[in-house]
Amino acid sequence: MSSSSGCDCAVLGGGLIGLAVAWRAALGGLSVHLADPDPGAGASSAAAGMLAPVTEAHYGEERLLDLNLRSAQLYPSFADELSRFTDLPTGYDTRGTLAVAFDRDDRAVLAETAAYHRKLDLESTPLTGREARALEPMLAPGVQAALLVEHDHQVDNRLLHRALLAAAVRAGVRIHRSAAEIVVEDGRARGLRLESGEVLATDQVVLAAGCWSSETPGLPPGALPRIRPVRGQILRLAMGTQPLLARTIRAMVRGRYVYLVPRAHGELVIGATTDELGFDTSVTSGGVYELLRDAHEVVPGITELALVESRTGLRPGSPDNAPLLGQTALPGLIAATGHYRNGVLLTPVTADAIASLLIDGTIPGYAVPFSPQRFGGPSCA
Ligand code: GLY
Repeated sequence: MSSSSGCDCAVLGGGLIGLAVAWRAALGGLSVHLADPDPGAGASSAAAGMLAPVTEAHYGEERLLDLNLRSAQLYPSFADELSRFTDLPTGYDTRGTLAVAFDRDDRAVLAETAAYHRKLDLESTPLTGREARALEPMLAPGVQAALLVEHDHQVDNRLLHRALLAAAVRAGVRIHRSAAEIVVEDGRARGLRLESGEVLATDQVVLAAGCWSSETPGLPPGALPRIRPVRGQILRLAMGTQPLLARTIRAMVRGRYVYLVPRAHGELVIGATTDELGFDTSVTSGGVYELLRDAHEVVPGITELALVESRTGLRPGSPDNAPLLGQTALPGLIAATGHYRNGVLLTPVTADAIASLLIDGTIPGYAVPFSPQRFGGPSCA
């Protein structure tokens, strides 16, 4: 016979977003359960951990930029509070980012980017190739120009996940290592049913299942806009005790993007492809080749490093590539998903916004434009 546990809130998904929401909600006094068969095994551990609202700003995404900037501003206190709460590091690292251009066309794109930054009052400093190499001596002689963005930082997403898991447990969140389906009764979400049959009964279910969100068992048609998986192939190299780079390098190499993120503990993360191939998580020889080829054009010294990991992650892409935050078309079901390229960056602001909805019943104004119901279309009502 299946049992039932009542709680104030049940979270589906134990990645960075689900855990941060659960932690914040538990700190706010709610009883919280969270279900995930393997917390952090998805995009949370694949990501590179760049906190890069400025170098990832895109034309036409100014509303998302505001949210990204807000979350970047929250990071120092978020990371500090988390470390003090758990005694664990997060790898939050305020060394900046250098965006570099390789050939003339790449240079023209970088100049446009600089103009866009000026228009939006975003801080970035144009540098010549020579000035860029003075900052980063391992850059190739072929690098023609750069933009220094001091306020685009990074966090070690794997350390962050470990700390959030510890924080959630410490704050009283009950973690269930199980898949789950949404229980719907009388036209509203009533909880989560675990594989054991146990039901986590609640009036507030948070869907934080990343690219699997719209595939969640029990989700009625029309409850959520479609979330599509966007594969990123990503590599990890070992720099050892001789750091090759002092800051993150984001490069455009003959029209293709590649980034190199050096960790303080000696890892160099190189990413990432953008492949729309459904739930295929293969690492392809072509993907690895392209990443290494382009990274090598920018920093030739990478060929000396050991390649220690190649893997993929599936970014959760919403119809407009911005997150879904708040009440869905199914009463009782709250979305915290669809963060696409910005899941690590948007973790603090998502946690604050969704915890506020769970605790006080109101979503902050800055999150309103990201309502899951903004696309109109079918609903469950
Ligand atoms: N934000 C980096 C990526 O999605 O590859």
